[in-house]
Amino acid sequence: MTAGSTDTLLSHVAEFEQDIDRILISGDEVQAKIRELGDRITEDYRDKDLLLVGVLKGAFVVMADLSRHIRLPLRFDFMAVSSYGASTKTSGVVRILKDLDHDVENKHVLLVEDIVDSGLTLAYLLKNLRARRPASLEVCALMQKPEVQRVDIDIRYKGFEIPPVFVVGYGLDFAEKYRNLPYVATLKPEAYEGLVG
Ligand code: IMP
Ligand code: MG
Repeated sequence: MTAGSTDTLLSHVAEFEQDIDRILISGDEVQAKIRELGDRITEDYRDKDLLLVGVLKGAFVVMADLSRHIRLPLRFDFMAVSSYGASTKTSGVVRILKDLDHDVENKHVLLVEDIVDSGLTLAYLLKNLRARRPASLEVCALMQKPEVQRVDIDIRYKGFEIPPVFVVGYGLDFAEKYRNLPYVATLKPEAYEGLVG
């Protein structure tokens, strides 16, 4: 690679991170917590047939890292829901865009979420999954915003409690961007310009 193309690459990287305002949870902190949750899950499900259900798209990053810290045979499935559209506020409307590929009856289901904000998405999903009669149903969420949560949800495996601010990174997006940041951060106001209505 020539010096010129390295410079171009670095300027692209700087541009990518220039929208970031403040890092709330560093990459190292996220990884340490994921490892801790993985250890607890390994312990709790040691004799059980575990099915990890990820809520797309946000949870794909947590799923990938968490699953590699669960030292048990397990299966994966995914659901895709939409609750926000292009806005940063909870609408309360949950739409299933993709349902599970397999039956969960008599399976030990662990629902993996990136973040619980109002809790409406999760409350809806739990009710929906419970009706399919799994052997057990628990929740793992990397983050929770307790101050804005509107429904009571028992999160067995919880990573971090954060203040009621909009965050991106580690799977979380704004307008489909920033999911690949290895940390959790807030965006500068300019980053929302022209997109939030
Ligand atoms: P809830 O229904 O209000 O709990 O929202 C849940 C979903 O909204 C999460 O699974 C995320 O996809 C999204 N969400 C909530 N808060 C944030 C945030 O701060 N940044 C990005 N996405 C968020
Ligand atoms: Mg989500």
